[in-house]
Amino acid sequence: MTVVEVTHPLVRHKLGLLRDVSTSTEMFRRLVNELTLLLSYEATKELALEETQVQTPIEWTTAQRIPGKKIAVCPILRAGMGMLDGVLSLIPVARVGFIGLYRNEETLQPVEYFVKLPADIADRDVLLLDPMLATGNSTAAAVDVVKKAGATHITLISLISAPEGIARVREAHPDLRIVTASIDSRLNEKGYIVPGLGDAGDRLYGTK
Ligand code: URA
Repeated sequence: MTVVEVTHPLVRHKLGLLRDVSTSTEMFRRLVNELTLLLSYEATKELALEETQVQTPIEWTTAQRIPGKKIAVCPILRAGMGMLDGVLSLIPVARVGFIGLYRNEETLQPVEYFVKLPADIADRDVLLLDPMLATGNSTAAAVDVVKKAGATHITLISLISAPEGIARVREAHPDLRIVTASIDSRLNEKGYIVPGLGDAGDRLYGTK
């Protein structure tokens, strides 16, 4: 499994602001958006290109374009929704799928409650969005969902990842690629990433 930790200074700077407990909900949303856009740049760097001819005001020249069906963006509800606009501002033609999972409190395993994917997802590169890769259980389940629908090229964009979550996902899906702004130190006993940023959903939507 490939894990890319993006260390660009803009990413580092915005991540520091995002972690800060005094950052407002409005600013938190904006930072999630901007960080996702920056991580999308890295996540899409291996997209195939084909040659095309274009006429500039001066002469015809060879240019490049991304051919055919391209990308399906799939936020994992609910916090992944905060990342959607960041990807779409860079790739406005992407199709969007939604993956809703909740945790069964007895088995502690993720259960699907809502899945709606583009019909042609098998022909597209999939970008899964989840700001926090914590235990890895919901990511592994979301990868199961898109693989069942036929997807083969899958990248998870997460803002912060825990080593435990990366290990769990590596075991279940060694073919997944992960692009993240930080690999933090650990999970605490409540399942929060340390140092992390707290509950990403609550901070995005002001629900606490
Ligand atoms: N989900 C969050 O929102 N934050 C964590 O630290 C772990 C999981």
